[in-house]
Amino acid sequence: MIRRCDSSEFETIYAIINDAAQAYKGVIPADCWKEPYMSEDELRHEMAEGVLFWAYEEDGELIGVMGIQQVQDVALIRHAYVHTFRRNQGIGAKLLSFLRGRTTRPLLIGTWADAVWAIRFYVKHGFRLVSPEEKNRLLKKYWSVPERQMDTSVVLVDPKWFEPDSRGPHSSME
Ligand SMILES: CC(C)(COP(=O)(O)OP(=O)(O)OC[C@H]1O[C@@H](n2cnc3c(N)ncnc32)[C@H](O)[C@@H]1OP(=O)(O)O)[C@@H](O)C(=O)NCCC(=O)NCCS
Repeated sequence: MIRRCDSSEFETIYAIINDAAQAYKGVIPADCWKEPYMSEDELRHEMAEGVLFWAYEEDGELIGVMGIQQVQDVALIRHAYVHTFRRNQGIGAKLLSFLRGRTTRPLLIGTWADAVWAIRFYVKHGFRLVSPEEKNRLLKKYWSVPERQMDTSVVLVDPKWFEPDSRGPHSSME
């Protein structure tokens, strides 16, 4: 079952994020890694900024979470995490497809350039990597990330981004 998380589930969301984020350890640049990967304050800040978390629940237990944030004229997928022990079983795909169906806005995703599994996952679902120049432009426009994180990130966009009536300039891809 996929459903909205409520505020009482903060600790569970926090635990899923920091369990799943172990995938980044030793993969993303060392100066970008910290433990816990996301602090409680950061998570609170993200929620206060409008990231709405949805969860995949099975037998009363949350297995994965995915956030969505409306920013200006687009929607961002934020903080997609599936518990390590349940990865590669289609849960991420279900969450992504569910959130896709909940917005008519173009969906954008930012992730670490080194998280090749995540990039492959989104490309498999029709998202496309934008050029480095476009990535920098989009990260500045829709996210607030430090310069170092911009250098080490990629941005993927869904096909809607390129539709004639979609917001935003049409731009190069790679
Ligand atoms: C990225 C992430 C959210 C995807 O969630 P997931 O539940 O593992 O995703 P899925 O199971 O739908 O798809 C992942 C892979 O499993 C495969 N898969 C899906 N169901 C499967 C099954 N029943 N048997 C075997 N493989 C399966 C998919 O084909 C996909 O393979 P591919 O990446 O080689 O194309 C998850 O891997 C994760 O939490 N990673 C760590 C954190 C992270 O990178 N987050 C992304 C931040 S933007």
